[in-house]
Amino acid sequence: MPSSTFAILGNGTVGTTLAKGFAARGDRVVFGSRDSAGAKARAALDAIPGSTAASLVDAARQADSAVIALPWAAVKGALTPALADALAGKTVIDAVNPVDFSSGQPALALGFTDSAGETVQRLLPQSKVVKAFNIITASHMVQPKLPDGEPDMFIAGNDAGAKAEVAAILRSFGWRSAIDLGGIEQARLLESLAMIWIRYGFGNNHWSHGFSLLNRKPD
Ligand SMILES: NC(=O)c1ccc[n+]([C@@H]2O[C@H](COP(=O)([O-])OP(=O)(O)OC[C@H]3O[C@@H](n4cnc5c(N)ncnc54)[C@H](OP(=O)(O)O)[C@@H]3O)[C@@H](O)[C@H]2O)c1
Repeated sequence: MPSSTFAILGNGTVGTTLAKGFAARGDRVVFGSRDSAGAKARAALDAIPGSTAASLVDAARQADSAVIALPWAAVKGALTPALADALAGKTVIDAVNPVDFSSGQPALALGFTDSAGETVQRLLPQSKVVKAFNIITASHMVQPKLPDGEPDMFIAGNDAGAKAEVAAILRSFGWRSAIDLGGIEQARLLESLAMIWIRYGFGNNHWSHGFSLLNRKPD
């Protein structure tokens, strides 16, 4: 597989973990940060030798594909028209969970008729958005081997080519499958599924769980 440049928009736990996975494949990583000289950006750069940091828009311009690894509260402000231009025509992996903690308990900020995935697709209308990685703890996003079995990843998006690209990324990260649920509106289901993972995690103070579809049709 020829190497690509991935813009990782968000230099926190998820962004750094997925960046490590891309770097291990030989891809180039450029972090998109609101403060590319700040402590978090420096920590991400230290974690991924050879990576670089830039503004969100400059990182997106340099990239072939991108990952959105931002908090839900930051999405609308960060995905500006300039960022949309820089990501036009590119595959964008959306790992965001729209979680609202304002009641003291994690809850979905939207659902049933909308999702973070659809919001990202609306904000990046010329990009090929694929929802992925949102249903598992960051530490299992790459080489997800759990003590009692292998989890499955579910994806959703409108562009078949972009979903094939993300399925290939998942396989290269050690996932046994990328189960395609359909168009980006199916992100509503994936973000609800993530809430099961989040409720279980908070309820049990245990975050190494994942989902597995038993007796699925072989790939
Ligand atoms: N953690 C998990 O295991 C996990 C699993 C599945 C999905 N997710 C989802 O993945 C997303 C990222 O989660 P995370 O755990 O990686 O969060 P995190 O560790 O808090 O990282 C979020 C990053 O976003 C950056 N950021 C915040 N506001 C920004 C803005 N306006 N513009 C640019 N950058 C901004 C922060 O950097 P600065 O503050 O330095 O700018 C920070 O590095 C969330 O939507 C979460 O729901 C997380």
